[in-house]
Amino acid sequence: MEASAAVVERDPITVLESLMAARFSCRSFRADPVPRATIERILTASQKTASWCNSQPWRVEITSGAATEAFRKLMYAAASSGKPSSGDFPFPREYKGVYLERRRESGFQLYNALGIARGDKAGYARQALENYNFFGAPHVAIIHSDEALGTYGAIDCGGYVTSFMLAAQALGVATVPQAALAFHSDVVRHHFGLGDDRKIVCGISFGYPDLAHDANSYRTSRAALADTVRFVDD
Ligand SMILES: Cc1cc2nc3c(=O)[nH]c(=O)nc-3n(C[C@H](O)[C@H](O)[C@H](O)COP(=O)(O)O)c2cc1C
Repeated sequence: MEASAAVVERDPITVLESLMAARFSCRSFRADPVPRATIERILTASQKTASWCNSQPWRVEITSGAATEAFRKLMYAAASSGKPSSGDFPFPREYKGVYLERRRESGFQLYNALGIARGDKAGYARQALENYNFFGAPHVAIIHSDEALGTYGAIDCGGYVTSFMLAAQALGVATVPQAALAFHSDVVRHHFGLGDDRKIVCGISFGYPDLAHDANSYRTSRAALADTVRFVDD
């Protein structure tokens, strides 16, 4: 019995499926830091991400300790300032139809979990600002790409983000990918001393999850294959 259970556990697709099922966007973290060796293991695994022409356009700034606190202060101030934000990549122009429905569903899941009433715009705004507190995470990774590689460079970085999140999950580390951190790309570039040719794709706040927090109490849904895939056989 024990032997067959071990075989099932080692089946690669079962391992991958369980990692993908267990990962979620964590929006409340414990303060304790992730050991450097664990972070390096996540990064080493993520380096295997595929990219167009193997260009590997991702570069990553990772903060810990006082550096996270300084960056948190800066980003929170930038987001609260009321100044117009600027991103390096165009933001979605409009969520329509099913995309709007999915966006609403996931938003209301979060607000319901936190007891924020429908239509409470001040409550929504307060929660949105939590992005810039990094939801209490002890670390942030800023993922940036090369300007000349354009949209496909950003796509490669998106693949990297997924690798990072799954590798982290495999090591018990929770993550949340955050386009919100790319809304103030000039502030980010200046803070980390990046050249104008580096374009901010997104951030990933990460650390150990506070699983008792209401923000982490729900899971998002996914569309059925029939709504997503068309098999073309003839
Ligand atoms: C590129 C990207 C950007 C995202 N930006 C944010 C963000 O700024 N703030 C946030 O709270 N969640 C953000 N998310 C998380 C999504 O809301 C989340 O992945 C989606 O609702 C599905 O939920 P799950 O990650 O828990 O499965 C982002 C996700 C991706 C992939």
